[in-house]
Amino acid sequence: MTLKTQILKDDTAGIATAVGLLHAGGLVALPTETVYGLGADAGDDRAVARIFEAKGRPRFNPLIVHVASIEAARRYVEWSDTADRLAAAFWPGPLTMVLPLKPGSGLSPLVTAELPTLAIRMPAHPLAQTLLTAFDGPIAAPSANPSGRISPTTAAHVLAGLDGRIEAILDGGACDVGLESTIIGLDGLPRLLRPGGLPHTALEAALGEPLSRHTDSDPLNAPGQLASHYAPAARVRLNVTQAGPGEVLLGFGDIAGDLSLSRAGDLIEAAANLFGHLHALDEKGAPIAVAPIPDTGLGLAINDRLRRAAAPR
Ligand code: TXA
Ligand code: MG
Repeated sequence: MTLKTQILKDDTAGIATAVGLLHAGGLVALPTETVYGLGADAGDDRAVARIFEAKGRPRFNPLIVHVASIEAARRYVEWSDTADRLAAAFWPGPLTMVLPLKPGSGLSPLVTAELPTLAIRMPAHPLAQTLLTAFDGPIAAPSANPSGRISPTTAAHVLAGLDGRIEAILDGGACDVGLESTIIGLDGLPRLLRPGGLPHTALEAALGEPLSRHTDSDPLNAPGQLASHYAPAARVRLNVTQAGPGEVLLGFGDIAGDLSLSRAGDLIEAAANLFGHLHALDEKGAPIAVAPIPDTGLGLAINDRLRRAAAPR
């Protein structure tokens, strides 16, 4: 799919266009004070699936949700006194907090990659704030770079990486911080999950205690990958063209199955349906067979997730 990527100006018309595109399920890169984010409506499964497609991400990494206010954040996560203290000190700004996801949040399961927690932040960039307020909803946004490349700090960087893959880029000039947000885990004792634009010493001063560190060998790389993800209770068997006795079949393309990820064989639709359909089939209590999914584009991320669901445990 090649799109004409529009560059939108920091003015009323540019913001209105960005809001319209987001409501229509489009992808809009937006400036934040840290780096440019690749934004989509966090409640829209298909739009969030397209983020992974546009970035060529081989995995469904959980995404950061951006909100306009503390009040908005509290709709999606179980807020705490510590969160309140840190938000008072550092929001809006380059701090992402990981908190327990509220049930019935209405966010796409692709946003959290089914973790029980949500990474959330209130960016300080005035244009990001204006957009979030005008959109009046949560925006999921990873850094706006193709997978494996460095994060963009200008609209030109975004265009160089994602031209033709996204609807628009809202141009807010160069990012001040130029480094991703600091991520702190607050689903338990405060832990530093990713060093970033806010020095951890500032966090420790606000908390009044030292932070424990992430001990993984590569803490900069996708802390969300380390937590355990949802796996269906049922046994999962892959690359199946015909269900065995007692199995329920998750179809794709010509293989209809009991439920289909996409009858049209559309990988974006399949990604958007993946977690919801796995849950629905799991509720039937029978082993799950899954039709072959092409291992290209978004199929890579879908197959990665399916392999982990099917792995012996
Ligand atoms: O400054 C930033 O944080 C930028 C701007 C656009 O906000 N965003 C950004 O997003 O850097 P991304 O997707 O490139 O990095 C987000 C990191 C990933 O490593 C992901 O695994 C982690 O946050 N993450 C997201 N949700 C998580 C969760 N629930 N628990 C732990 N880690 C999480
Ligand atoms: Mg990134």
